[in-house]
Amino acid sequence: MMGNATTELLQADETGMTRAAQLLRQGTLVAFGTETVYGLGADATNAEAVAAIFAAKGRPRFNPLICHYPTVEEAVAHVVADERARMVARTFWPGPLTLVLRRNSHCPVALLAGAGLDTLAVRVPRHPVALALLRLAGMPIAAPSANRSGRVSPTSAAHVLDGLEGRIAAVLDSGPCPIGVESTVLDLSGPEPVLLRPGGVTLEALQACLGPVQPAASSAVVQGLRSPGMLDSHYAPTLPVRLGASSVAPEEALLAFGPPLSGAGRVFQLSAAGDATEAAVKLFEGLRRLDREPGAIGIAVMPIPDVGLGRAVNDRLRRAAAPRGVQG
Ligand code: TXA
Ligand code: MG
Repeated sequence: MMGNATTELLQADETGMTRAAQLLRQGTLVAFGTETVYGLGADATNAEAVAAIFAAKGRPRFNPLICHYPTVEEAVAHVVADERARMVARTFWPGPLTLVLRRNSHCPVALLAGAGLDTLAVRVPRHPVALALLRLAGMPIAAPSANRSGRVSPTSAAHVLDGLEGRIAAVLDSGPCPIGVESTVLDLSGPEPVLLRPGGVTLEALQACLGPVQPAASSAVVQGLRSPGMLDSHYAPTLPVRLGASSVAPEEALLAFGPPLSGAGRVFQLSAAGDATEAAVKLFEGLRRLDREPGAIGIAVMPIPDVGLGRAVNDRLRRAAAPRGVQG
């Protein structure tokens, strides 16, 4: 599904959902909305379909994919889930949390989906359209965010088409994503819970449920070994990104959080009230919009407190601002 093939835009009605499920069963790629971002889905048990995801995104093969399921029972059936993992799953699923657990011996998911690791990332999303599609498809769906590798994640069907039109079979349009940043990735494959990626479930909520949660090692190299997708440069717009701005140059675009800095010409407001949850919803749209501002030479970003969903927003912004050499 590459080159100049046409990409079907499907509505989230019975006809569109049936078509999307049929395309997935045929082994082709279908992007679909979740509560976090749009995912690029394929039959996780079909190695060729999974390989097509890596090709369409231009994603390095060492970066493993998340497997999506319609129920907690189906998700835990493919991994080694102890009482701690089941408790976390029951608390946060369906929802914006991904659990990394060891694959079990009868796991039918293609090894390529997990990039050959002995662990598998599993998640039960809570968006009703995603859940209905997963039920209709009748198999686990491997789905990374539906963007070209290293670029900004999509939170609408139009964003998906911007990057992948002509490279995938279809997009199922379920409207804008209500959370706007990806799921939290929590590694429960070892004795200590490790936060691999901050996301839609806050660290505070995880700690209230689990007790202490280790942050992933801060070095990109060490982190890369544990979770190969956590490479530094990611979510990158074309323009350079400057964080923690306390002033703005006339030729810069401003990503504002609260009252905009004086002198700003081109402004995208993440949250006038300074609310991190609202900022998460608007983050990727804001980066895409400012990236298209005529004449802008860079994006300046106002500081956002590093608590609650602010952690996920700051994580994505740090990656958007990172040197562009390495891409996930
Ligand atoms: O919200 C989300 O999580 C979205 C929606 C579509 O579900 N998906 C998503 O997928 O963000 P992706 O591929 O863009 O990010 C998945 C992250 C990557 O950083 C990857 O390295 C990590 O999860 N990951 C996947 N499997 C892993 C594993 N077995 N061990 C460690 N990290 C893993
Ligand atoms: Mg991604």
